[in-house]
Amino acid sequence: MSAPLKHLLSTRDLDLETISWIFSRAERLKRMRAVLSTDERVLYGETTATLFWEASTRTRVSFELAAIRLGACVVHLAPKDSSIAKGESLHDTIANLFALGCRYFVVRHSISEEVKRLADKARYGAHLINAGDGTNEHPSQALLDAFTIRERKKTFQGLKIAILGDILRSRVARSNLYLLTKLGAQCFVAGPPDLVPEKLNVISTTIAQNMDEALTDADVVMVLRLQKERDGKKFEISDSEYFQKFGLTRERLALAKPDAIVMHPGPLHRGVEIDSEVADGPQSVILKQVENGLFLRMAIFEALRGELG
Ligand code: CP
Repeated sequence: MSAPLKHLLSTRDLDLETISWIFSRAERLKRMRAVLSTDERVLYGETTATLFWEASTRTRVSFELAAIRLGACVVHLAPKDSSIAKGESLHDTIANLFALGCRYFVVRHSISEEVKRLADKARYGAHLINAGDGTNEHPSQALLDAFTIRERKKTFQGLKIAILGDILRSRVARSNLYLLTKLGAQCFVAGPPDLVPEKLNVISTTIAQNMDEALTDADVVMVLRLQKERDGKKFEISDSEYFQKFGLTRERLALAKPDAIVMHPGPLHRGVEIDSEVADGPQSVILKQVENGLFLRMAIFEALRGELG
């Protein structure tokens, strides 16, 4: 029996039973192609708000589609189009949306831990989902990544997962490291020395000396985007130099196991962190990740709704 899930803020908070429930449910939703009978639409009559302080394609659209598939109404609010532009706080905005009946709030924010602060102050009955907070976490992305790995590799035990690129500023890396190591994988991180932390306080995680060490015999290769929008000036390197030194090319990928899968959370910068030949190649599961995002996010809403077994 899993503990009730009130908010989704971090993959660190999730126990193995909850993760397993979410995966099983997402698997079933995938088999059903997300088409549910009226009785199964557990968010019928509910309202979900998506509040995005940073740009998004995949996360926003898949959460909105997930809520709609489950029967909810969805409202989207961007800061420039709301009374936040007139000085209202985000906390007050959420309280007002709550008064209008919203119970699910999918929030992306540029400040780390901001979604947790909002959740701590939110009214009883509100469920907050962290859709990416600064450089901190992106838990639904990590869950869909792990779900995609599980589909292909069946188990996490003994898997070598290479996470490559801008580790320092990546919320995807952090959420994935917490989750994948909890599930039994061994993670290796590598990238530009300025963008890989000197220390990572995560079990079963190795800071590799270079890309080749991380890539050698990897079962999964996860490539991350350069987060130029965060402290862009601190790391000055041309796109072509980045590609030459750190880009995932067919030659570099050949160091990994022949059946290794290639992942990327998107958006892709082709010819910077990944070669198109690899992104579109036979080992790539990048669009599978996107596809799985819908089912996984439906399962997250169901878990928050109290459907956990
Ligand atoms: N992976 C991800 O968060 O993509 P978006 O920024 O498009 O939501």
